[in-house]
Amino acid sequence: LAEKVAHFVQKPILSLEHKLFPDGESYIRVEGDVKGEDVVVIQGLHPPQDKHLTELLLIADLLRDLGAEKVRAVIPYMAYARQDRRFREGEVVSIITVLKMLKAVGIDEAYTVNIHSPWVLENAPLKVVNMDASGLLAVSLSQLVSEKPLVLSPGKKGLEMASATASVLEADYGAVVSRRDTVTGEVSVELDADVSGRDVVLVDDVVSTGGTMARCVEIVKGRGAGKVLVACVHGLFIGDAAEKIQAAGASMIVATDTVPNPYAFTSVAGLIASQLT
Ligand code: R5P
Repeated sequence: LAEKVAHFVQKPILSLEHKLFPDGESYIRVEGDVKGEDVVVIQGLHPPQDKHLTELLLIADLLRDLGAEKVRAVIPYMAYARQDRRFREGEVVSIITVLKMLKAVGIDEAYTVNIHSPWVLENAPLKVVNMDASGLLAVSLSQLVSEKPLVLSPGKKGLEMASATASVLEADYGAVVSRRDTVTGEVSVELDADVSGRDVVLVDDVVSTGGTMARCVEIVKGRGAGKVLVACVHGLFIGDAAEKIQAAGASMIVATDTVPNPYAFTSVAGLIASQLT
């Protein structure tokens, strides 16, 4: 992804020497002179999140230490954004802690894609530009669906995502109400739309364990839907997530390259590059 972005913005890439000490700690060395430069670090926070976060903090702090004038972080997948409030007494609001760490090591601005909780950015400790990749996903989907499908999306921002995707596909859209038990993690899904005989596109910001998507696919298939395509911006696909979704009846899975995965058919490189002026 970094190579693609560098190509779009016509800027050189600096190599980083990276290795692990025998005990698992990261070693980072920048190969080149960054003094006085505006440096962009591209580092996703997908699993293993803590390792990737530590690397980002080490890289950014190092760049500052070596005299970089400005350090911007492109974080295609922002981890910890689902713990965006205190759901139960005594819980940490993880995303705020992460943003504070980014600021503390001297990151001037961050750029991310479809952060799970855009509302936290209003009072964030540093400027974070949140880009929307649902249009790009929809363009990829438009080459895969033959007839106008029904676009459905679970989650809090479901209607918004479904409507953005449907507008590119010139299709109808609706929401699926999904709820996760905050203690057991179990997902329940409710669907009002009539899907009988229709091809359905199910779109979500994140697929993690695949539990939400598999349940959605199962329900629409059970109600007589035709072909079901699953699309997500961030495909974490933990464990057998993709297999679960396919076993539920999805005929295809499409994701972006914010997270490296076998379904990353849509690149966000151009979208990121367009923000890095
Ligand atoms: C939830 O609000 C998100 O939009 C996704 O629906 C959720 O993160 C998916 O998680 P999982 O794949 O583990 O069900």
